[in-house]
Amino acid sequence: MAARNKKRGFFITFEGGEGSGKSSQINALVEKFKAIGEKVIVTREPGGSSGGEAVRHVLLSGAAESFGSEMEAILFFAARLDNIQTIIKPALESGVHVLCDRFFDSTRVYQGASGKANDELLNSLERVVCADVWPDLTIIIDLDPRKGLARASKRRAKNTKPDRFEKETLALQDKRRQAYLDLAKKEPDRCVIIDGLGTPAQVAARIRKAIHKRLGLFKPATRKKSGGSASVAKNKKQSTASKGSAPND
Ligand code: TYD
Repeated sequence: MAARNKKRGFFITFEGGEGSGKSSQINALVEKFKAIGEKVIVTREPGGSSGGEAVRHVLLSGAAESFGSEMEAILFFAARLDNIQTIIKPALESGVHVLCDRFFDSTRVYQGASGKANDELLNSLERVVCADVWPDLTIIIDLDPRKGLARASKRRAKNTKPDRFEKETLALQDKRRQAYLDLAKKEPDRCVIIDGLGTPAQVAARIRKAIHKRLGLFKPATRKKSGGSASVAKNKKQSTASKGSAPND
C-alpha cells in the first residue's frame, strides 16, 4: 500500500480504450470521495487546463496526425505540462486528491505501442514533464474493444462525428488493449487492471476495492468490536462516513 504523505493528495490516473467507461466511473468516484470527507478534483488529458484544452483541440481534430506519432506525443506532453503546472501539482500539494482521465500511459499506448514514437523519447518526456507528479495508482479499465466502441458510438450519436482516435480499426484497438495489459504487468505496483464488464455499479465497486487495497481509502465498514486499535481509531472518521459506500455495495 502506498504510504500517504499527509500533506499531499493521492494522484490517481484512469486508463482504457474507447468507451471503457472511465469518465462515468471517475464522476461516480468523486461522489464517493466526498462522502468520506476527502477533497478531490477531476482533470483530463489531453486538456484539463486552459493551455491543455487549446492543444486538445489540435490533437483530436487530427491536425497533427500527418506529422507522425512523435510530434503528436510531444503535443500531448505539452498539454500535460500545462495540466500539471496549473492544476495537478498545486492540488496535490494542497492535500487534494486528483483523478485524471488519461495520463502518460495513454501516450505510451497510443503513440508508443500502437504508434511510432520510440520509448527513449517517451521516457525522456515523462522524466522531464512528470517527475514531480508520478501517479500513486493507475486504474486500467479493461474491456473488449468491440463492446467499448459500441458504447462510444452510442454516446456520440447525440453529439458529433467520431474523433481522430475513435475512427481507428478494431485491430488497432486490440493492440492497445494488449499494450495496457503488458504495461500493467511491467508495473504492478502502480497499475491495477479492472474488469470493465458488468454494470457501472459493479465496476465502481471493483475500483473502490482496488483503491482501498493500494491506498487505504474506502475502508470497508466492518470494524473490530474490541476497539482501541490504532488503525481502527485512525480510520474511524472514514469508516463512519463511508458506511453506505463500502466497496461491495
Ligand atoms: P477523449 O475524447 O478524451 O476520449 P476518451 O473517452 O477515449 O478518453 O479522447 C482522447 C483521445 O486521445 C483518446 O482517443 C486517446 C487519445 N490520447 C492519445 O492518443 N495520447 C495521449 O497521451 C492521450 C492523453 C490521449
